[in-house]
Amino acid sequence: MRTFVITGGTDGMGKGLALRLLGRGDRVIAVADGAPKGRLLLAEAERMAAADRAVFVRADLSTLAGMRAALAEIATVTDSVDGLVFGAQRFRPRREETEDGFEFTFALGYLSRYVLGHGLVPALERAEAPVIVNIAGPGGLPGVVYWDDLQLREGYRGRRAAMQSSRCNDLLGVDFPRRHPGARTHYVLYNPGFVRTGMADPLPWHQRLLTKSLATVFAQSVDKAIPPIIRLLDRPPAEPVTAFMRGRPLPLEGEDFDPGRARRLREVTSRLLGTEAAEARH
Ligand SMILES: NC(=O)c1ccc[n+]([C@@H]2O[C@H](COP(=O)([O-])OP(=O)(O)OC[C@H]3O[C@@H](n4cnc5c(N)ncnc54)[C@H](OP(=O)(O)O)[C@@H]3O)[C@@H](O)[C@H]2O)c1
Repeated sequence: MRTFVITGGTDGMGKGLALRLLGRGDRVIAVADGAPKGRLLLAEAERMAAADRAVFVRADLSTLAGMRAALAEIATVTDSVDGLVFGAQRFRPRREETEDGFEFTFALGYLSRYVLGHGLVPALERAEAPVIVNIAGPGGLPGVVYWDDLQLREGYRGRRAAMQSSRCNDLLGVDFPRRHPGARTHYVLYNPGFVRTGMADPLPWHQRLLTKSLATVFAQSVDKAIPPIIRLLDRPPAEPVTAFMRGRPLPLEGEDFDPGRARRLREVTSRLLGTEAAEARH
């Protein structure tokens, strides 16, 4: 039995993955903020006779306290993690600040993946063929890292925040083997393309209507989007870091994957988190 941690494992692609993995006999730890969706997942696991292999960890991953609580709770369940999937997200049409003073999308979409990804390395390294799959947007819509205004205090747009978070995740992936030299954990940046999920729910009604109509024509179902991700979890690519647009490998070239920018983002992030001293030892 392998153990998978899935952030956003109670809805959309995260839930699709959770149910597929539970169905074949693996253990799943789903991390999300909403208790009702967590209860639904556990009820579905029970119907599949997988209740003893399904765990729901309730944590608000937009806050540092939530990220740390999730790490602590995962540690009480398992000391070894075979696969870590990042799928937690929530679009914010208007700028919001978390209790730590971070812009919400930056905190949930990027910082939580930084904190959980690095925090779970010891558990991942205990597994046989460990892998992180970061579901984001490599090779997709263009986005910019606003180095002078990472918290997007000026000119906030929901889409701008989502795209910045995607670019930060590209750099997070590229930096991973440099941050953990010699680690056996492979890092996969994965763009699923347009998938029919609840992603559009927080949009204002007219944009929601438009996105949902476009989704009925152009988006894949969760069922179709899941198999390539399962394949990556089962057979991680040989290289330490890879990026895919659906099944197509992306070259790790250009600004989005530039190692110098990746290092810069790591340094900025560790300053924001107040962990410079620990990072300097790596
Ligand atoms: N759908 C697409 O077309 C598409 C395209 C490209 C990339 N992606 C990426 O694919 C991943 C999965 O997307 P999806 O569309 O499947 O997502 P989704 O259906 O919207 O599900 C999002 C998940 O995140 C959880 N979540 C939201 N806020 C949270 C918080 N503060 N703390 C912890 N968990 C939280 C949600 O549960 P609760 O609300 O109950 O907490 C839910 O389980 C995301 O990273 C997304 O950026 C999606």
